[in-house]
Amino acid sequence: MWEYTEKVMDLFYNPENQGTITDQKEGEKVVSGEVGSIACGDALSLHLKVNEASGKILDAKFQTFGCASAIASSSALTAMLKGKTIDEAMNIKNQDIAAYLGGLPEEKMHCSVMGEEALEAAIFKYKGIEVEVHEEDHEGALVCSCFAITENKIKRVIRENNLKTAEEVTNYVKAGGGCGSCLADIDDLIASVVYETPTATEQEVSTTTKPTGKLTTLQKITLIQQVLEQEVRPVLAEDGGDVELYDVDGDRVQVQLKGACGSCSSVLVTLKGAIEATLKERVSESIVVEAV
Ligand code: FES
Repeated sequence: MWEYTEKVMDLFYNPENQGTITDQKEGEKVVSGEVGSIACGDALSLHLKVNEASGKILDAKFQTFGCASAIASSSALTAMLKGKTIDEAMNIKNQDIAAYLGGLPEEKMHCSVMGEEALEAAIFKYKGIEVEVHEEDHEGALVCSCFAITENKIKRVIRENNLKTAEEVTNYVKAGGGCGSCLADIDDLIASVVYETPTATEQEVSTTTKPTGKLTTLQKITLIQQVLEQEVRPVLAEDGGDVELYDVDGDRVQVQLKGACGSCSSVLVTLKGAIEATLKERVSESIVVEAV
C-alpha cells in the first residue's frame, strides 16, 4: 500500500478541473496536450484555454486514466496553471507537481512526469510548433520494449531528477517495471550519465551565460523568451518600441515589432542589432531573426 499525502487523497476523492473545455470566445485559444496510452496503464489529456493577447491561461482541465496519484497530479497541475501565462507555465517541472502535492511515493513519480509531458505538448500546440512531446525522447535505441521507452528518454529523466538506481528510473518512467530484462541496460545508462560531461540539458537555463550544450526545443524557446523579456524589451521601451516572439523554427526566430519599432525607418538596424545580435550572444551563434 502506498503512503499518500492528505493532499493527494483529497484531490483523488475530490478532483478539481476534471473534464474538457468547450466554451471559447473570440481572442481565446483552446489547446490540448495528450500523453500516455490506456494500454500502458496511464493516459492524460490536458486542456488549456488561453487569452491570446496576454498569453494568460484562463482555464485548465484534465481527463486522466490512471491511479490515485495520476488523478491527483493532473488535478494539481491544472490548479497550478490557472492564472499563469504560457511563458510562466513553461517553467513547471514534474518536481513542482510533486511538491504541490506534498510529495508523491517514489514508485508513483511517473505520474508527475506524465503531467509535465502533457503540459509541454499543450504549450507546443499553443505555439503552433509541430513537434511531439520531447521529440528527442523518440530518438535513440529502444531500451524497454515492455513500455516502449527509448535511451534518450531514460537519460533525460535520469539527468533532470538526478536518479541513481534502476528502481528510481522505473518509478519515474516505468522502464524496467515489466519483464525486467532491461534493468541491466538501465544501470548502464545511469553510469553513462554520471560520467558524461555536463551539458546544457543539465544546467539551469541561464540568460547570463550562453549554454554550452545542445538545448531541447522547449529550453531554446524558453531562453529566447527570457532574453527578449529581460534584455531586449527594456532597451526598445526607452524609445517607445516593443517586440514579441511570434515563432521559433530551428534557428529561425520570428518576431513582431510593435510600437515605435513597427513604423521606424531603421527597423532593420533594430532587428539585426538589438535583437539578433543579443540572441546570437545569449542563445546561439546560428540564430537568424526576421520580422513578421
Ligand atoms: S523490457 Fe523493460 S521491463 Fe520488459
